[in-house]
Amino acid sequence: MMGSMELLGLFLAASGALAASSRYPRWAPGPQELLSLSPETPYGSLWPLPQSLRVSPTRFRLAPDQFQIVHGPGSSAGPNCSLLQDAFRRYYEYMFGYSKWQNQDEKKSLCETELSLLQVIITSKDSECDKFPSITSDESYHLQVSKPTSVLKADKVWGILRGLETFSQLLYEDDCGTYFVNESIISDFPRFAYRGILLDTSRHFLPLKVILTNLDAMAFNKFNVLHWHIVDDPSFPYESTTFPELNAQGAYTPNHVYTPVDVHNVIEYARLRGIRVIPEFDTPGHTQSWRKGKMCIILKGELKILYAYNGNKKREKEDW
Ligand SMILES: *[C@@H]1O[C@H](CO)[C@@H](O)[C@H](O)[C@H]1NC(C)=O
Ligand SMILES: *[C@@H]1O[C@H](CO)[C@@H](O)[C@H](O)[C@H]1NC(C)=O
Repeated sequence: MMGSMELLGLFLAASGALAASSRYPRWAPGPQELLSLSPETPYGSLWPLPQSLRVSPTRFRLAPDQFQIVHGPGSSAGPNCSLLQDAFRRYYEYMFGYSKWQNQDEKKSLCETELSLLQVIITSKDSECDKFPSITSDESYHLQVSKPTSVLKADKVWGILRGLETFSQLLYEDDCGTYFVNESIISDFPRFAYRGILLDTSRHFLPLKVILTNLDAMAFNKFNVLHWHIVDDPSFPYESTTFPELNAQGAYTPNHVYTPVDVHNVIEYARLRGIRVIPEFDTPGHTQSWRKGKMCIILKGELKILYAYNGNKKREKEDW
């Protein structure tokens, strides 16, 4: 139990750092350092630890202006897979975005690149590019870091997402700002099919941006389920098109709601990171916020359960 509490703290810390600065260098105060597993954790260490990992002391230089992530030969996915295009852009930015703020000309002369290409290959016929992740999604991948071309292979896009995260964690910089990655062979698959966190947006309304930042932090830790505890007793922030009274009366204020577009954006942002969203409309208990807008939505049978739950016979009778 204690372990999972600490992990939650880690998420908040990671999101805080992200929110504080869009230039947050991924390799600096990474999850390894925050967990303080070992004071000598070397750069390029991985979290979570892959199933099989061989890292050699041979390191390759990378130059941000020459390095590319591309679709490899024989892949069943191509530039028409927007999930992967988005992931390629995102991970390039995580790895090298920070270097935009440093003197690139100086670096170029110092650094002749050795690793210039990461080829991404989907080996099964259906990449699942346009699908949603599920409990049975295949997240396994194989990553070979070699020069001049590294290869990341997976049966489905979900494995590629986890492999890109791993590749980005392998990267580190020396004191002169040169990027390196060690020669490695990694085979990986998750130990648990369900790796989730719960966000309660009823007790505390969370702005959309905070939910999205949490999804980023989850992807960095290879988590795959957002359990969205969206409504509860204190407030009803879900904007219902069928029963608009629910959020009109039940939300803290008219501004503290998630519109259908917001909900769509959360689900798509999560999908692009291999995360599925499980919404929870908590009933029959925990429905005080529902009753503000729509008393009759609570059926007679459920009222009895409410009785039992609240243990306040008198008030329930008056309300009804
Ligand atoms: C990566 O290579 C460097 C340079 O040879 C070495 O010092 C370091 O220990 C290697 N990292 C790992 C995780 O093996
Ligand atoms: C997308 O690209 C892949 C490989 O380039 C191809 O096999 C597939 O048919 C394309 N899909 C669509 C919907 O165009």
